[in-house]
Amino acid sequence: MSAAAPRSTWSNRWAFILVTIGSAVGLGNIWRFPYMTGAQGGSAFVLVYLLCVALVGLPLLMAEILIGRRGGGNPVSAMLKVAEENGASPWWGLLGWIGVLGALLILSFYSVVGGWVVDYMYQAGSGVAVATPEAAKQGFDALLADPLRLVFWHTVFLALTVGVVARGVISGIERASLLMMPALFAILLFLVLWGGMVGDLRAAWHFMFDFKPEQLTGQVVLSAMGHAFFSLSLGMGAVMAYGSYLDKQSSIARNSFWIALADTLVGLLAGLAIFSLTFAHGLEAGSGPGLIFQTLPLVFTHMPGGRVVGTLFFLLVLFAAWTSAISLVEPFVAWVTERLGVHRAIAAWGTGFAVWLLGVAVCLSFNDWSGWKLFGLNLFDQLDYLTSRVIMPLSGLAIALFVGWIMRQKNVRDEISLPVAPFQLWWRVLRYLTILAIVLVFVYRLLNPDP
Ligand code: TRP
Repeated sequence: MSAAAPRSTWSNRWAFILVTIGSAVGLGNIWRFPYMTGAQGGSAFVLVYLLCVALVGLPLLMAEILIGRRGGGNPVSAMLKVAEENGASPWWGLLGWIGVLGALLILSFYSVVGGWVVDYMYQAGSGVAVATPEAAKQGFDALLADPLRLVFWHTVFLALTVGVVARGVISGIERASLLMMPALFAILLFLVLWGGMVGDLRAAWHFMFDFKPEQLTGQVVLSAMGHAFFSLSLGMGAVMAYGSYLDKQSSIARNSFWIALADTLVGLLAGLAIFSLTFAHGLEAGSGPGLIFQTLPLVFTHMPGGRVVGTLFFLLVLFAAWTSAISLVEPFVAWVTERLGVHRAIAAWGTGFAVWLLGVAVCLSFNDWSGWKLFGLNLFDQLDYLTSRVIMPLSGLAIALFVGWIMRQKNVRDEISLPVAPFQLWWRVLRYLTILAIVLVFVYRLLNPDP
């Protein structure tokens, strides 16, 4: 292992929290969470999701940061080192590989959606009016049908992302999050207040929080758990990579708690803002992945000051997506720079190019290549399905097994400096509940194989 330059550490404790919140808060919170909540009928999904964050998400977040910091390297070398230290097989290194490569797969379609966001921000800023629901749908379909436009914005988004990673951990990644995350919180609060004033906050609240047991189906539980993984950036080495730049004094438990809390709050607030506006205009909450791209432009068109609010909204989504995309590139780039000794900028742009190519295929899967399907899914849906329903839960399971059952308890204790009682609580939850929850969801899926 070429231990070339000394590794960076974040400038202070807040930096790690903000950067990791930057990874967690993304399209998952503002695009995926509201549309899934809408499509799954509302509150039951929200409540199961909250339960999954507490029982599966938070414990795993701690476990992943722990491996990263203990291993002090990119996900591949960190897994190898921690496995060796605990007398486990070097095959565990594979888990690092799965994460690093899986993250690039996610990025290839994440960047395409990031491109939609930039396109819509541009439209909102230039005052494109969307008068009727039909026009909104046509506008979205027109974007998907235009390969050049998709590829153009995908290229812009990916270049923004790679440009930050190329500048380095502190002067690129840390600085970008320190600038964007406070702006993101400010815009989000403004939008929720705005939604409360001009929208129907009460209806949004009831939709999201009134518990309706009849909505609770296996499908809801499944998608809520998958979403907890996606939203907290779990199972892909992303938080592992960020954890490897964390100094030994910081408390993993406390940091993880704040990260999980902030990520959850942003999703809930975005949901409240979006549904307030959606319901006030009598629009459908369950319109699916087009929710923020079709419903909201319509709302913005019919609202005073909508051009400014609309632009701000898509800027918010852009910041969220951008800082998340950065965390999808970093694990692999860290491996290339540390293991192959390649200059960071070259590693970043080279990785970006490979992801760009796959992303172009994703762009084409909506139009020219839409005839090419596997199990009825186009490439975009295949990649989403493979990563968030297969790779993430399986590697999350492997991480829980590794930290809960393979690592020596002394080494785990060393990293998680909690008093005995809370430590035992976390450790037991990870060893039993987290593992049981993931396995149950998997078995359920095997028995009920619809999407
Ligand atoms: N959590 C991000 C979101 O909510 C997406 C993301 C970033 C991610 N890095 C990840 C998902 C690593 C899984 C693994 O949009």
